[in-house]
Order: sequence, then C-alpha cells, then structure tokens
Amino acid sequence: MHLGSPGNLSQLNAEAPWEDFNPTAYVDHNYRKVIQEDREIISIVRAHFGDHFRAHPNRPVRGIDVGAGANLYPAFSMLPWCDEITLLDRAEQNVEYLERQQGGYDQVWDAFWDLFCTDEAYAALQGDPRDRFKEVTEVENGDLFALSGRRENWSLGTMFFVAESLSTSHEEFWQAVECFLLALTPGAPFAAAFMEHSEGYFVGDTHFPACDVGEPEIRSAIEVHAERQRLKIFTVGQPNAVRDGYTSMIVACGFRARGN
Ligand SMILES: C[S@@+](CC[C@H](N)C(=O)[O-])C[C@H]1O[C@@H](n2cnc3c(N)ncnc32)[C@H](O)[C@@H]1O
Repeated sequence: MHLGSPGNLSQLNAEAPWEDFNPTAYVDHNYRKVIQEDREIISIVRAHFGDHFRAHPNRPVRGIDVGAGANLYPAFSMLPWCDEITLLDRAEQNVEYLERQQGGYDQVWDAFWDLFCTDEAYAALQGDPRDRFKEVTEVENGDLFALSGRRENWSLGTMFFVAESLSTSHEEFWQAVECFLLALTPGAPFAAAFMEHSEGYFVGDTHFPACDVGEPEIRSAIEVHAERQRLKIFTVGQPNAVRDGYTSMIVACGFRARGN
C-alpha cells in the first residue's frame, strides 16, 4: 500500500473516514502492476509458509487476513493449506470489493498468484485458483480490535499494512499487533507487513492516518506474543520509492508464542 501525505494530524482509528476508502483507487495505485517490493515480500512469505508446512503438514488450517482491504495476495499466501480463510475488514467498500472478488477475482491478481506458483506447494494446487479462493474465503465486516474476544481462533495469519496504517496512535498500533497475534493459536505461523515511518496516505482524494513506527518498535510489539528466536524481520525497498512519506517496508515472519 503506498500513497503519500502532506501531514499527519492526530487521528484515532474510529475517527478516520473508512466509509470513504475507495478500493478501485487503492488497487489502481498499489497493485495495478507487481512492483519489486511486492515481489520481495511474496518471496519472503512464500518461503516462510512453504517451508513450515513442508515440515509440518498439519491439517486442517484456518487462516485469517486482518485488514484485508483491497489486496488479495496475503490470502493467496495461505491458500494451499487452508480450508477456511477469514478476510476481515472494517470498511464497507472493501468488504464489497472482496465479495465481488469471490465471484471470480480480477485479472490484475493473476500476476501475484503466478509469483506464488514458483513454489511447488502453490503450483500443486488442484484446479482453478479462482474456484479455490471462492471456496475457502469468508469475508467479514468487522473491527480487528474486537478480535481480543476471539483468542486462539486461527492457526495461520497475515496482516499487511494495517497496524501502522489505521491511526496515528502508538497505543492503537500496539493493540492491533496484539489483537492479531492473540487471535492465533500457539505456534501458528504468521506474516505481517508494515510501512516504516509512515506519515499517512491518500486513497484517491481521501487522507488516512498512519502511526510513525520504526523497525525496533515493530519488533518490540511483535516479540511480546511471538517466539523471539524464530522471528525474522526484513527491510524491503528504498525510502519514498512508491510514495512520499515513509522509509521502507518491513516484513515480519514468525510463530505465535506458546504460553502467553
Ligand atoms: C492501508 S490498508 C491495507 C490493506 C491491505 N491489507 C493491503 O495489504 O494493501 C488498511 C486496511 O485496514 C483496514 N482497517 C482499518 N482499521 C481497521 C479495523 N479497526 N479493523 C479492521 N480493519 C481495519 C482498512 O479498511 C484498510 O483496508
């Protein structure tokens, strides 16, 4: 996700204009073409999930993409192993977008799926990935902060460009990371992506807030509920490469801690 901002006035999650989030403008700016950053993120996440499930082919797996918005590739990353993937988002237009994609996703997403298929686990998926996406995904209009009431409900999870992109509040950033991780079962693999030092972003003409976090803060927030030894954090891309007002993208791959 990626459009710049002139400034970042203080704004909580409940105050941001989610009803004006335009998925068409969002996809057009961010996902019309596969950029190098997405290639790198996909290769990191593909290896993390692929390697884990080759070693631990446990079934069934329930996945969740938190703040799915108008991005299908986090769900693609979980597709080979899941019987069910919840696509959770609070913005009505994003929910409608995701429901339309269930009926046969747009061609723009084919290039993203093809990148996953360089790993045998994805390439071996039987049938049309559009049918599989439709069968497996469940779109839910909801608030990620309410996940605190649904602990240990999913065994695989993704959350891309959400915790730092939902308000200017550091407290909400921490809460969002916590709600995501606690919604996963102990030992569950996860992948999360962040815009580092984001100053906020536009979707079409509408400005959305962001929280200014760096790699150390992202790491600290995740480490509270993840296995520290197996947490891997990657810096992807250059400052301001896809828009003004951020320094890089950060990808965190790990496993939900056992025992907290
Ligand atoms: C910057 S977009 C990221 C979308 C997508 N995950 C991606 O990778 O491009 C942030 C998303 O978080 C969603 N969001 C914001 N606050 C939320 C909340 N409290 N609960 C669930 N989703 C939320 C927005 O509707 C939006 O889809």
